[in-house]
Amino acid sequence: MPQPSYITYSDPWFYQRPRLATHIGTMCKDTLFSRMIYLGSRRIGKSYFFLNDLCPYLIQEGLMPVYVNMWVNKSAPHSEFAEQLAIVLDEIEQDGAPKRFLNTEIKKLAINNQFAKIGMEFKPKVATDIDLYNIKNLLKSIVAAAGKSKIILILDEFQHLLTSPAFDNFLYALRTLLDTYGSRISVIFIGSSRTGMKAAFENDKMPFYQSAQINEFPILDDGFIAHCTKRLEVVYNIHINRLELLDFWHEINHSPHWIINLMRDIVTNQRSLPQAIAFIKEATRVEEGHDEVLKNLTATDKAVLLLLHYKRGLYSEESLRIIKAVGGKGTRGSIQSSERRLENKKIISTLPDKNVMIQLYGLIDAIEQSLSPELKLKIGI
Ligand SMILES: Nc1ncnc2c1ncn2[C@@H]1O[C@H](COP(=O)(O)OP(=O)(O)OP(=O)(O)O)[C@@H](O)[C@H]1O
Ligand SMILES: [Mg+2]
Repeated sequence: MPQPSYITYSDPWFYQRPRLATHIGTMCKDTLFSRMIYLGSRRIGKSYFFLNDLCPYLIQEGLMPVYVNMWVNKSAPHSEFAEQLAIVLDEIEQDGAPKRFLNTEIKKLAINNQFAKIGMEFKPKVATDIDLYNIKNLLKSIVAAAGKSKIILILDEFQHLLTSPAFDNFLYALRTLLDTYGSRISVIFIGSSRTGMKAAFENDKMPFYQSAQINEFPILDDGFIAHCTKRLEVVYNIHINRLELLDFWHEINHSPHWIINLMRDIVTNQRSLPQAIAFIKEATRVEEGHDEVLKNLTATDKAVLLLLHYKRGLYSEESLRIIKAVGGKGTRGSIQSSERRLENKKIISTLPDKNVMIQLYGLIDAIEQSLSPELKLKIGI
């Protein structure tokens, strides 16, 4: 495929998605869709697409993208928001366009930063009146500096703003602010948790209620696998079985993150495809830190997580039976303290709609793997 003209990114492993960029970019230009939501599970290339495909396309089309990842500063997402607005304002004033998206290093940083913060303790901070006033002014200045160009605000990991009441202030202010600008600013909300995004947009008590429809972020097509196998052949003269790789690609739910790591492993460690696949499977477990987390969970904690995940309710007779079967105590008190403990460790968050979001991706799978097949059958999972 010839490189689309808007692409300035030079990573040869980057599998471009010009059709999707044109599709979403065209909607950004129009006023019919000034609020869009994209939901997709972890590591399927969402941030990468919006930063490397969509932003350059928007700039080429004379629009002004502003990208903010709410996970970069987990305790004070409003500070990160203000910081990104200030950077973009500076760029527009200096160069007339947000040039930063042309700089690979910063893009890499924006993406990698968040991984380090997953599972880390943080104390949510409330945005003060001064913080909000500052944000309001920054946005006003950007709109003025952008002149006729439309601003496209891309808010990544938006569900994070729902995970603590400390962020309410910012969330409400953001809604009011965006309403003031109407279709002058298009907004793309990106999220990696269905429960979190539903709580934000489908709960009538929340400020963003029904402000946009939730779309699934389209997964990368299988052409990505052909692209990777071909590059291995051309650059390293390594031939692998494409169909075997395709199977693994489907097994890991189309995550380019793990495929790129698999490529690295094949090349640097000169492993065969099956060996590399085994290695990556192990790596996914270790990287998410499941072993460490699992070690510190009590049997009640594990059962509570399973019940929350399957939305079975915690206090019914049936649930108490399940907790006991997994080896837990199964009393009201022990369930309550387990919930508190999981919340303090930031393994779960209770959302404003009272639904519970499990923050550690893949943890449920890991818990299930730690149970015997007989037990799983007994408790009906
Ligand atoms: N189009 C692509 N071509 C090549 N590699 C890609 C592509 N998209 C993503 N990747 C690889 O996958 C990694 C993860 O992608 P990205 O961070 O965009 O996922 P994500 O869906 O935003 O994940 P998270 O939910 O964890 O934020 C990237 O760092 C990159 O190595
Ligand atoms: Mg991301």
